[in-house]
Amino acid sequence: MKTALDALKRSNIFKDQSKLSFDYVPEHLPGREKEIDQLARLFRPVLYESMSQTAMITGPVGSGKTAVVKRFCMILNEAGLENRRRIEHVHINCRNRKSESMVLLSILTHFDSRFPDRGFSIPEMIEILKKHLKKRECHLVIILDEADVLLKRSGSDLVYNFTRIQEEDDELLGAISLILISQKKIMQLLDKASLSTFKRTNLIDFGKYGHDVLKRIVDQRIEFSFHPNIVQEGVSDMIASMSEEYGDARFAIELLEKSGMVAEEQGSDIVNPEHSRWAKAEVKPFVFEETIHQLNIHEQVMLLAASRLLKRSAYCSTGELETEYQALCEQVNKRPLGHTQFWQYMKEMDAFGLISTKRSGKGTVGNTTLITIQDVPVAELIDYLEKTLLS
Ligand SMILES: Nc1ncnc2c1ncn2[C@@H]1O[C@H](COP(=O)(O)OP(=O)(O)OP(=O)(O)O)[C@@H](O)[C@H]1O
Ligand SMILES: [Mg+2]
Repeated sequence: MKTALDALKRSNIFKDQSKLSFDYVPEHLPGREKEIDQLARLFRPVLYESMSQTAMITGPVGSGKTAVVKRFCMILNEAGLENRRRIEHVHINCRNRKSESMVLLSILTHFDSRFPDRGFSIPEMIEILKKHLKKRECHLVIILDEADVLLKRSGSDLVYNFTRIQEEDDELLGAISLILISQKKIMQLLDKASLSTFKRTNLIDFGKYGHDVLKRIVDQRIEFSFHPNIVQEGVSDMIASMSEEYGDARFAIELLEKSGMVAEEQGSDIVNPEHSRWAKAEVKPFVFEETIHQLNIHEQVMLLAASRLLKRSAYCSTGELETEYQALCEQVNKRPLGHTQFWQYMKEMDAFGLISTKRSGKGTVGNTTLITIQDVPVAELIDYLEKTLLS
């Protein structure tokens, strides 16, 4: 029997699990090169002309907003060092720091980790911030992440204040830049005065990630976090397809980590697409029994045939499926359907969401339709369907 002590032993699968943590920001962020470039162009005057800048980032869940801004600020700090401009940044998640004073407190603890967490009014805290900025002679980039929460709760006074500080005191001209991040559009939450500092060109809208980029993101984490040759081919493609609907890199990375954990739990020394199906079923369970009851006998046989073919791989071809289906028909004493009807049913099952089809892309000979099952471990389908059809 496996004990907790076994589970604590060094993993044969994971090389470095910390690289799968949501706080880890890789040096290179696949698919976001253009956005980082855009930010760099916006912030060039901060570096060379001692100016300040504002930017606003919007985009759906897991589209890399936080990661891109954090990485960009690290790059900016480095560029600052090379150019004798001291640039620092503070990242504040406004979901956890909902009030203006809590946001200011986070900024002040960046300069003084022992700054007391109560006893100062907002104007007093702003005065202290000014002193720090003057003393350190640094440019501070304030990142307000999930800014919509703060703006909805407290309005945009604080955002305006950061601009005003610089206008009122020559010594502080160009001392603060501001980056607002939000899933939702937040322009309408800013008052006129604050709005005037955000030009249209300072808005960067992150689109949802597509299949190709998700696959590159997963491949990168496989390289960082797993021992070599442990994760089988097809896993990253499969995870990219599973998370494509949401375009969410966080979901994809979570599926990858869970896939590795499932493989470990099952005592496997490799990670294959079936482990990813188990992972997905854990994260987003899919009640397949109800759907199977709506299928006719031929569709059920097709599903069992597909499940058997997909035990060890991510995809199979329609040709392979048709052959396997015909063989299974014999076992259940049914006459196999003709090719046209077979196709028809396959399309219906795709619509039911049990199987997914895709055109084979590069790397495969010819251009055929490939079939996969993503939402349920095929072992579970095989178990269930064999009981229904073969016993
Ligand atoms: N292009 C990318 N390359 C590598 N990893 C990425 C990329 N984009 C996102 N990630 C990773 O995916 C996870 C989610 O990204 P991030 O937190 O930046 O999303 P977000 O857009 O801020 O989402 P939310 O709106 O929920 O805050 C993080 O672990 C991040 O490192
Ligand atoms: Mg975020």
